[in-house]
Amino acid sequence: MQRWSRRKPHLQLLAFLFIGFIMLTIFYNESSIQQIHEDSDQDNHNQKIVYIKPNVPRNSRLRAPEILDRFSICNSSREYSGKKIMWVDPTRESGRRWVSDTEKCDVFSGKWVFDNISYPLYKESDCPYMSDQLACHKHGRPDLGYQYWRWQPHNCNLKRWNVTEMWEKLRGKRLMFVGDSLNRGQWISMVCLLQSVIPSNKRSMSPNAPLTIFTAEEYNATVEFLWAPLLVESNSDDPVNHRLADRIMRPDSVLKHSSKWEHADILVFNTYLWWRQGPVKLLWSTEENGICEELDGLGAMELAMGAWADWVATKVNPLKKRVFFVTMSPTHLWKREWESGSEGNCYGEKSPINDEGYWGSGSDLPTMRMVEKVLSRLRSKVTVLNITQLSEYRKEGHPSIYRKFWETFSPEQLLNPATYSDCIHWCLPGVPDVWNELLFHFL
Ligand SMILES: *[C@@H]1O[C@H](CO)[C@@H](O)[C@H](O)[C@H]1NC(C)=O
Ligand SMILES: *[C@@H]1O[C@H](CO)[C@@H](O)[C@H](O)[C@H]1NC(C)=O
Ligand SMILES: *[C@@H]1O[C@H](CO)[C@@H](O)[C@H](O)[C@H]1NC(C)=O
Ligand SMILES: *[C@@H]1O[C@H](CO)[C@@H](O)[C@H](O)[C@H]1NC(C)=O
Ligand SMILES: *[C@@H]1O[C@H](CO)[C@@H](O)[C@H](O)[C@H]1NC(C)=O
Ligand SMILES: *[C@@H]1O[C@H](CO)[C@@H](O)[C@H](O)[C@H]1NC(C)=O
Repeated sequence: MQRWSRRKPHLQLLAFLFIGFIMLTIFYNESSIQQIHEDSDQDNHNQKIVYIKPNVPRNSRLRAPEILDRFSICNSSREYSGKKIMWVDPTRESGRRWVSDTEKCDVFSGKWVFDNISYPLYKESDCPYMSDQLACHKHGRPDLGYQYWRWQPHNCNLKRWNVTEMWEKLRGKRLMFVGDSLNRGQWISMVCLLQSVIPSNKRSMSPNAPLTIFTAEEYNATVEFLWAPLLVESNSDDPVNHRLADRIMRPDSVLKHSSKWEHADILVFNTYLWWRQGPVKLLWSTEENGICEELDGLGAMELAMGAWADWVATKVNPLKKRVFFVTMSPTHLWKREWESGSEGNCYGEKSPINDEGYWGSGSDLPTMRMVEKVLSRLRSKVTVLNITQLSEYRKEGHPSIYRKFWETFSPEQLLNPATYSDCIHWCLPGVPDVWNELLFHFL
């Protein structure tokens, strides 16, 4: 447990960097945007698009590139060359779409219903694996309403959470969550949902970063989390020491992470917030002189999604492996978006948004379109957990100031709690429990 808690400090740092960066993007200028347009126009006129085959093992390259870590640097940087990732699904034509009763109804369209009889699904204090970043009650949150909401789809019911049934589905299997701190929150939620029925001497947690494994002996099953915020190899693959501001990634390789995730039976991926601040530096696997290219976050994410999709398309047999992709988790950084004319953020919010279809600026539509395009080409192999709209409503579900903070705040900040509120992650028990009920529903 000691080592367990020591791994947390970077998370809230991450939250602050995000807020900072999101502000930066707001102040971004038309001049720089125009610059990008001009550049890409030139590209279209003068250059043919070069396609790169991703996930080529290192030893088959002429010169093996070094593995990226937090000490990696670019020798120099130049403009994005326009190279793209080429991927095809070799089984696409024959690939049969999963058809089941659950698809007849859009379970992601619905509303939140107050239900303090069946919720919360577990007690915060009963989960020994709870994170201090997400334990809002423990850290003084007085209003507990955020624990009592049930997601009710408009035209059908969600399967009711049944921990015994879930364990039966997991028997003899490895369930692995792969992604960033939001995905880690969903993993902790899953462990908390599952652990209560396992006697304490029959379960264990190995806190070995970047892969953390919860094991339940009697089911011969594991529930694991792999830190891979960009999915592709990057200099930010250490869950504690990473450089959000200075990201270098290999746009054309997930191999470093897939060597860990390929043995899982059920995979749950996410990636989003780490792409929200550009630019990102690209170091292609074929690049031998340490020269990076610079690209905006959305463009870089599209390359990474391509490398990931190539792995799924060529390596996943949907009869043997289930793959889920969790869409972007919304943030609630600007209160004026749900209450015009007001200042502040999620701090002090006590109830969900009622306005059906509410969509905040934290959920980037061009990103959603891009993700949708990639996933639709993989639809026989990937089940989408489209949690964005339903989580948009839950402005009160974030920790705000009710979590552990590792830094000290100035008197000015303390007078204005909104300045250090976490409106990105989610309290537990809370919203991520419902994401896991959706996962259970489709499993
Ligand atoms: C934004 O653009 C204006 C004029 O185009 C310029 O004066 C200003 O310095 C720019 N701000 C930033 C943050 O680049
Ligand atoms: C549930 O909420 C209702 C209405 O707020 C309240 O009257 C009742 O006591 C609550 N029940 C429990 C078990 O908390
Ligand atoms: C939960 O699932 C188990 C095993 O499938 C079943 O025996 C049990 O009746 C279920 N419990 C509820 C409350 O539905
Ligand atoms: C436990 O599960 C693994 C797969 O995760 C399997 O290889 C192994 O044979 C199982 N062991 C037992 C005792 O069932
Ligand atoms: C960086 O450039 C120098 C000189 O051009 C070269 O010797 C060195 O190998 C390069 N570094 C990498 C990581 O490629
Ligand atoms: C998720 O749902 C939203 C509507 O809430 C839709 O616009 C979006 O395209 C969906 N995303 C995917 C990947 O299916």
